[in-house]
Amino acid sequence: MTTFVLFGGTGDLAKRKIIPALYSAFVNGRLDQDFKFIGAAREKLTDEEFRVRVAAAIESYAANVDGATEEKRAAFLATTHYSKIDARIPEDFAALKSGLQTSETNATLFYLATGPDIFIPVVEQLSKHGLVEGNARVVVEKPLGRDAQSAKEINQSLRSYLNENQIYRIDHYLGKEMVQNLLALRFANSFLEPLWNRKWIQDVQISISEQVGVESRGDFYDHTGALRDMVQNHLLQLVSIVAMEPPVNANPDAIRDEKVKVLRALHKFTPDEVSKKTVRGQYRAGAVDGKPVIAYQNEPGVPPSSRTETFVAIRAEIDNWRWAGVPFYLRTGKRMASRSAEITINFKPIPYSIFGKSQGPLRSNRLVISLQPEESVQLYMKAKEPGEGIRLSDVALNLDFAEVSNSRRVESYERLLLDAMHGDLTLFVRDDELSAAWAWIDPIMSAWQNDSEGLKSYISGSWGPSAASYLLAQHGAAWGEEF
Ligand code: BG6
Repeated sequence: MTTFVLFGGTGDLAKRKIIPALYSAFVNGRLDQDFKFIGAAREKLTDEEFRVRVAAAIESYAANVDGATEEKRAAFLATTHYSKIDARIPEDFAALKSGLQTSETNATLFYLATGPDIFIPVVEQLSKHGLVEGNARVVVEKPLGRDAQSAKEINQSLRSYLNENQIYRIDHYLGKEMVQNLLALRFANSFLEPLWNRKWIQDVQISISEQVGVESRGDFYDHTGALRDMVQNHLLQLVSIVAMEPPVNANPDAIRDEKVKVLRALHKFTPDEVSKKTVRGQYRAGAVDGKPVIAYQNEPGVPPSSRTETFVAIRAEIDNWRWAGVPFYLRTGKRMASRSAEITINFKPIPYSIFGKSQGPLRSNRLVISLQPEESVQLYMKAKEPGEGIRLSDVALNLDFAEVSNSRRVESYERLLLDAMHGDLTLFVRDDELSAAWAWIDPIMSAWQNDSEGLKSYISGSWGPSAASYLLAQHGAAWGEEF
């Protein structure tokens, strides 16, 4: 039997992502027959009151999951319970324990969807009450720390109560279908590997653009910023998978051993390099998809004088034999022109064109791996246009996963929750990966703190500050949408 205890059970993440993911897994028969879900938070609620909230979350965010019926919804709500827990009150944990014992739990997953300041008090109490022995696992949400030092302290405290293999540091980008497909693409095909290096690749671009602003999280976001919110975790995880060496096998630690080597090989910037190789911006008022939107500084919870970045572009480098000299252009931002997450591998141009100058400049080959909104892999090649003479054009071999397979799409949170329940750590971040990522981020953050002039602004609905285009243009490169 699996019991899933969700701390932060009444919060935003629970409502939008975790409860819908759990419900979808339940509806699709992926949870044990005797699965039990316990929401935990500080508010005083009865089981019945919590069920009303869970039902509302399902209605708003999971009404259309495949296979959902009224009966299944009722059955899911019947598995749902509530436990009032304040991390500072030991008796609350004693009450939780008695709830778990009566159900003779033999595998418990504690999910900490709370602020990081609560992680340690909760884990300490769980440990004191003997709740993290045996089969118990703990999932912790990002952000794990604010810098290398605080992340180290959190990790050390977690490790004083738990074994590393009980700690599931979630990065929901790792649960996206295409991220796993990237592993398949790289390590189950032979034709890419000979090209996957500095000899044939001009640059790599990883771009995650969002149309949303900070939504209801102004206060949290203002203390975080895009570098900590997106680059330290999601973007660097993608870098590590694109750039890693082939692991010896597909076991979690074999994969994580290779990923961490990439993170350690990231070239750490000096303050001078930070000013040349990074761009940060904050959105002004503008329009997204034709709808007017307010400036970041006017968002609820954000001080009008805020200097927090909502956009980041970086020219990163990896100091190793495979990648030396190949720029990895990273970009992410809120309130941008469109929503997409894409990895583009730009190959080097052909050494010489036999077709003469009349063809104009030809864009070299590129492989575009799209994580969202579509899940696709496109290989852009040159081909002759039909008809007389030779006119070359850019054509794409398009592998659209929605077309090639109609199997059920599993959302990243659902995949990761199930992996955690099954004890599969592959798609979770190990402590050394986290430290290596922070070690690369720290010098950027400190250089920014000493350079208050460096924050640019950009109009909502654009592709970010013009400095982000210049970052590439000065090296003869351009972001995908600029061609
Ligand atoms: C979260 C960030 O980790 O990822 C959010 O905290 C961001 O600010 C979100 O909006 C983006 O995730 P996705 O899956 O919608 O691209």
